[in-house]
Amino acid sequence: MNYKIAVIKGDGIGPEIVDQALLTLNAIATKYGHTFSCEDLLAGGAALDVEGIPLPKATVDACRASDAVLLGAVGDPKWDNEPGGNRPEKAILGLRAELGLFANLRPATVFDELASASPLKKEIIGSGFDILIVRELTGGIYFGSRGTEILTEGKAPNALIERLSEGRSIPAGRFAYDVEQYSEFEIRRIATTAFEMAMKRDRRVASVDKANVLDSSRLWRAVMEEVQQSYPEVTLEHYYIDNTTQQLIKNPRQFDVIVTSNMFGDILSDEASQITGSIGMLPSASLGEGKFGLYEPIHGSAPKYTGLDRANPIATILSVAMMLRYSFDLKQEADAVENAVKKFLAEGYRTPDIFTEGKTLVGTAECGRLIADFV
Ligand code: IPM
Ligand code: MG
Repeated sequence: MNYKIAVIKGDGIGPEIVDQALLTLNAIATKYGHTFSCEDLLAGGAALDVEGIPLPKATVDACRASDAVLLGAVGDPKWDNEPGGNRPEKAILGLRAELGLFANLRPATVFDELASASPLKKEIIGSGFDILIVRELTGGIYFGSRGTEILTEGKAPNALIERLSEGRSIPAGRFAYDVEQYSEFEIRRIATTAFEMAMKRDRRVASVDKANVLDSSRLWRAVMEEVQQSYPEVTLEHYYIDNTTQQLIKNPRQFDVIVTSNMFGDILSDEASQITGSIGMLPSASLGEGKFGLYEPIHGSAPKYTGLDRANPIATILSVAMMLRYSFDLKQEADAVENAVKKFLAEGYRTPDIFTEGKTLVGTAECGRLIADFV
């Protein structure tokens, strides 16, 4: 088969890790007789440098015309003082919105070989954990109404201010707001993704919200329960976000699928990846209605490691495996990539971020070459 892949290498270590992932993709192409046509596209700081905007229209159009997108990482301190709309991160948010990628899958798994790298105690890690975070990605506070205003003494510009001031006059000054908001439709479709995923796993969904305070969370909870009716084999439990941050550390093994809003998912997925002890190893998929998806490592562009041949390309290589599995339905090929990564670890090879005494230290390029070889 012929597959069209839009490749966005991005900033920092992005280009070097994507190059390694492409080696593995080539190995898959040769072994299984597929053609992957890859087109390099600009986004993030790399696009700002050349075109002055983080997400050129040509990039979005080319992504739309592809079967899947492989992304390295975007973000560069050089652009940190840019206004909100012109930061490299805007490229990611723009791609998610423009491509309708509402479901973000972030697996947090412990690799047997690396269990000792987890910051959690051995008794807690046990034989490891395997959590799939399903994060809503195109709604909530990230895409809700927002604004910045200057308040004049005594004037309440909207209902929000009236509530804050309880009818009293409020002091003049700057004011900014971002609104958390969800429609039934948005909750229903992310719930469906979570339950479908749970059906292929341990059939347990933990829905995370703040229903003791927020209206949007109460709607979230109600819709989760409605969707659960269609999945009688799957158990549904509700957790508050604050409690979840504790439970993840106290007993991560209690979780199978976690489904949550955009903002809570952003926070929880960082926590979950940290406790695996191998943040440089974790891939992610962002999916829409059909088979199309965007695949990227969950770590960032790590500017200080750029060009040093020390970044770990495994998260990006495993993102390729997710692409093969979810967008192309190539299960055998996806397994082959994952097995090659397991073999790399089992044979004792380590990049600097996961290196321990007695193992064989390799750089970014050597790691990529070995894994492609093992395929
Ligand atoms: C992530 C990142 C992004 C997010 C940033 C870069 C906009 O933190 O993918 O988790 O907040 O979604
Ligand atoms: Mg994040």
